[in-house]
Amino acid sequence: MAEATPGPGAMLRPRVIRTRTDLRAALATAPRPIGLVPTMGALHEGHASLIRRARAESATVVATIFVNPRQFNETADFERYPRDEASDLAIAGEAGVDIVFIPTVEEVYPAGFQTTVRVGALTEPLEGAARPGHLEGVTTVVAILLCLVGAERAYFGQKDAQQLLVVRRMALDLGIATEILACPIVREPDGLAMSSRNMRLTPEQRAAAPVLRASLLAARAAYEAGEKDGEALRAAIREVLAAEPLAVPEYVSCADPVTLRELARVEGPALLSLAVRFGSVRLIDNDPLP
Ligand code: PAJ
Repeated sequence: MAEATPGPGAMLRPRVIRTRTDLRAALATAPRPIGLVPTMGALHEGHASLIRRARAESATVVATIFVNPRQFNETADFERYPRDEASDLAIAGEAGVDIVFIPTVEEVYPAGFQTTVRVGALTEPLEGAARPGHLEGVTTVVAILLCLVGAERAYFGQKDAQQLLVVRRMALDLGIATEILACPIVREPDGLAMSSRNMRLTPEQRAAAPVLRASLLAARAAYEAGEKDGEALRAAIREVLAAEPLAVPEYVSCADPVTLRELARVEGPALLSLAVRFGSVRLIDNDPLP
């Protein structure tokens, strides 16, 4: 076993960096290409899959752990967001991270901070409509992280489909050279998309939560049986959700996967997506057609 080559299962403890200055210094001499995986911590197998992909394609893997206050439109959600640095470092190390950047809020947003990055029409529907300011918070922090790290590639999960599209748009518009790559959704055995928020579900809510995936699969089945009417596909999702009393739907969408505008008819690719509340916990999922 080569000692100096971290990789899946290598269980090396990543180097922890907490300031912009130290990050720049470490990256100045780091072997390239650099792969970046931005996260908010509470790492799980979904994050690990992004890290392993970065590991396979990069000489240096950087992960960031920062619970970004600017992207939480509800203060309580920010305060309750799970934080466990020791567990995160173990998972990051095992998946092959070399450097973990764990900055404070002041380090990310220096005194006097007054710059925001806002993407246009793509941020208006879905998460943008349901969580005012959320996507602006995401693009602002991701722009900062992309600038600080200067990676060749950055990895994002398809789980947050709109976030991925918006970050890609931003990188293109601003001339940020980092290539934005999409990774598939990692699910629990019962189909629930992995999420740091799943651990806040009660046992009853957790048992009901696979209804998100089930509702998307019902719409997919209707589509495969020939249903091409957008509203009928949205209705197929709503019908399955309605049978689960603990699930309170926030939005249900069948949209153009490039513009995210709702489709009247599905004549090409489409994105089925939804947000559902279980008590105070908000879950999202999506499925691309065909
Ligand atoms: P976070 O929710 O920690 O997710 C970090 C990355 O992991 C995102 O790209 C997300 O899409 C991906 N991810 C989460 N769960 C996943 C799953 N089950 N399967 C595949 N990928 C998954 O998304 C954020 O943090 C933040 O908005 C961030 C981009 C870090 C900016 O603050």
